[in-house]
Amino acid sequence: MVSGKPIFLLFCIVLVFSDLSGVASKSTIEPCSNSDSCNSLLGYTLYTDLKVSEVASLFQIDPVSLLTANAIDISYPDVENHILPSQLFLKVPISCSCVDGIRKSVSTHYKTRPSDTLSSIADSIYGGLVSADQLKEANSVSDPSVLDVGQSLVVPLPCTCFNGTDNNFPAIYLSYVVKPVDTLSGIATRYSTTITDLETVNALGGPAIKDGDILAIPLSACPSNFPKYASDYGLMVPNGSYAITSSHCVQCSCVPGSRNLYCTPASLAVSCSSMQCKNSNLMLGNVTMQQSSAGCNVTSCNYGGFVNGTIITTLSSSLQPRCPGPQLFPPLIAPPTVVGPNSLFAPAPSPIESGGPGATIPNTVVPSTGAVLGYPPANGPTGSFSGNSNSGASSLVNSFTRFPVALVVALLLKGMSSFSL
Ligand SMILES: *[C@@H]1O[C@H](CO)[C@@H](O)[C@H](O)[C@H]1NC(C)=O
Ligand SMILES: *[C@@H]1O[C@H](CO)[C@@H](O)[C@H](O)[C@H]1NC(C)=O
Ligand SMILES: *[C@@H]1O[C@H](CO)[C@@H](O)[C@H](O)[C@H]1NC(C)=O
Ligand SMILES: *[C@@H]1O[C@H](CO)[C@@H](O)[C@H](O)[C@H]1NC(C)=O
Ligand SMILES: *[C@@H]1O[C@H](CO)[C@@H](O)[C@H](O)[C@H]1NC(C)=O
Repeated sequence: MVSGKPIFLLFCIVLVFSDLSGVASKSTIEPCSNSDSCNSLLGYTLYTDLKVSEVASLFQIDPVSLLTANAIDISYPDVENHILPSQLFLKVPISCSCVDGIRKSVSTHYKTRPSDTLSSIADSIYGGLVSADQLKEANSVSDPSVLDVGQSLVVPLPCTCFNGTDNNFPAIYLSYVVKPVDTLSGIATRYSTTITDLETVNALGGPAIKDGDILAIPLSACPSNFPKYASDYGLMVPNGSYAITSSHCVQCSCVPGSRNLYCTPASLAVSCSSMQCKNSNLMLGNVTMQQSSAGCNVTSCNYGGFVNGTIITTLSSSLQPRCPGPQLFPPLIAPPTVVGPNSLFAPAPSPIESGGPGATIPNTVVPSTGAVLGYPPANGPTGSFSGNSNSGASSLVNSFTRFPVALVVALLLKGMSSFSL
């Protein structure tokens, strides 16, 4: 009778270890209760050389949004056909919905090609952001060895919003696939956060992370304050980057170290409604200052959201102790052609991290040619920034994507306790 127990225990241990050394990975899950969507980012590493437009279409987002989210200069001629190098790490802005009580993105579809398998789509094409099992389940694939070419698969992608805040500061969350060389402290340093914060956000019991886990990394961001009926309600621009909105008419930026969203006309070659503030000669983004004995009277024409095809502008005046300096802009980078030596093993610090302090580069996100004409509107079907961040749910659930691990641990504990009796 008793002799059976050690064998059972051994069996459990073998199961646990074989499972942990296998593909069991963990991702952070955010429960949600309302149908509002919110803005989020995916950390994506290119599996091969791809055009900007190809990366955008993999995620069904606007190419301009992809570029601006990575502070890549969109004024380069024909930038949407620029070829980005394999292994480049990009932040992909996506809309995060609430499906069956948890936050996830389900707006991405993938059309299968001849040599595709569920694992090549999951691990390679989507860089581990989805698993073969999740693809199988989301598409009710009965026999994964038989994929019809041209079949459209839903690609469920991980995302979290946590009410657009982290420790009560505005934040946008990056879903990040852990690489073999990553450590939690390295990730914390790279993204200007702390180990403790990452542990809290992801409900980690300790700093141990492993290849394939998906972490939610809070990035400091500039929030917007648009009315709920604006189509870009909830717009959130990560520290050091840009966003394009109002049907490509308006671009907003977030300078490192600031939480003030700053919006100006985008000057892409599209026709736009008026961007002048009412009862004033100021245009969107214009600031005038008047020094007086009482202080500095600062008047600015600000962006207030995109409502029914109209660009809302609001004029505001305030008396400040000192006149502000010139408006800073996040540094822009040229469309990347090579991946730095480190980034094969660790994702390239995104332009945001490598940028240092904001630089004054007025009007640099303005195309020198009409090459970027004709993108779908930023608030079109891609809806990359048209969601909102007003999720009610903020508690965390950390789940093993493969329940056998938990089950086996429970069995193991049960086995141990009965063995000790
Ligand atoms: C107002 O903003 C427009 C558009 O950005 C710019 O062209 C113009 O120079 C600005 N005017 C002033 C006075 O700052
Ligand atoms: C600040 O300037 C604006 C426009 O120049 C003016 O309308 C407003 O009355 C001024 N406010 C103060 C406190 O001087
Ligand atoms: C937008 O337009 C629709 C119909 O054209 C109207 O019912 C709605 O009130 C408008 N919304 C706002 C905020 O103006
Ligand atoms: C913004 O990003 C810079 C690096 O790009 C970083 O040094 C800074 O700490 C970030 N700001 C905040 C508030 O996180
Ligand atoms: C969400 O954030 C807003 C401010 O952005 C705050 O007023 C609200 O209480 C937060 N809600 C939850 C559930 O944390």
